[in-house]
Amino acid sequence: MPVMRSVLVTGALGQIGSELVTALRKRHGSDRVIASDIREPAAGVGSVEGPFERVDCTHIREIENVVRRYDVGTIYHLGALLSAVAEEKPRVAWEVNMGGLYRTLEVARQEGSAVFFPSSIGAFGPSTPRQRAPQETLQRPTTMYGVTKVASELLCDYYHSRFGLDTRGLRLPGLISYGAPPGGGTTDYAVEIFYQAIRYRHYTCFLRSDSRLEMMYMPDAIRAMMELMEADPNRVVHRNAYNLGAMSFCPSELAEEIRRHIPDFAIDYDVDPVRQAIADSWPESMDDAAARYEWDWKPRYDLGAMTRDMLEHLAVRLQQRG
Ligand code: SER
Repeated sequence: MPVMRSVLVTGALGQIGSELVTALRKRHGSDRVIASDIREPAAGVGSVEGPFERVDCTHIREIENVVRRYDVGTIYHLGALLSAVAEEKPRVAWEVNMGGLYRTLEVARQEGSAVFFPSSIGAFGPSTPRQRAPQETLQRPTTMYGVTKVASELLCDYYHSRFGLDTRGLRLPGLISYGAPPGGGTTDYAVEIFYQAIRYRHYTCFLRSDSRLEMMYMPDAIRAMMELMEADPNRVVHRNAYNLGAMSFCPSELAEEIRRHIPDFAIDYDVDPVRQAIADSWPESMDDAAARYEWDWKPRYDLGAMTRDMLEHLAVRLQQRG
């Protein structure tokens, strides 16, 4: 039997990476999954349960060394800046998001590795239909984050058609999780609200009450990434990148759902114009028919199931932390 090549996750200490590493290690074994990040893990963090390498993806030698040393066959390239931070630092966002992907693809081309790329709801813009944004539609984002996401989708397509690289990607919605926090995204409110609801029964939201966006619970997102990378190559026609949907809600609806569990929970609003403008430029929902048809995608968590699970897990975690 051929020996399975290793899996590398960049940005492994981030919101997605920290959970993806755990899931991949369960599936392939701890030694086969290399976690990497530009930061060193804090003592006691899960990613030290297997190999960890410090990698700055804007330095090609650093990626190359790790890919060669561990014989990496698949790279989940998650190292990137999120939307609000990218708007604050557009130059850095271009260098990290584009420069990091470009160098990762170059190493993958030399070493024959497959690459997963996380695109986003942010790859759409104001001229995209806001409801059920189609798989193939206008993509004219107005943020630096969105510009890098569209360009990255195209770059991944190019490496596939020009060099035969197995690149695959997902347009992820806003992700909700109780593990590592997101760092500087527009959809972060849907994570913060749970922490504040449990601790203080109160949350001040930086988006308007009716700001509706596509969202997803992290276990669904992790499963989607792994299922996509394992899908039959002959079926993945829209490889870079698939629309992905699970639930679409606005802050007032999420607050209402939390109130079913915490009846005295209160929400008020102090709108941040920068993040509001970003949210207003994104679709409210995405049509994920291509993912459903081509690799049998199906979400498991809706708003009710996600809220229940978040509150249960987060209450335990916050109690443990004291
Ligand atoms: N969650 C991301 C953000 O808000 C969207 O891809 O930046």
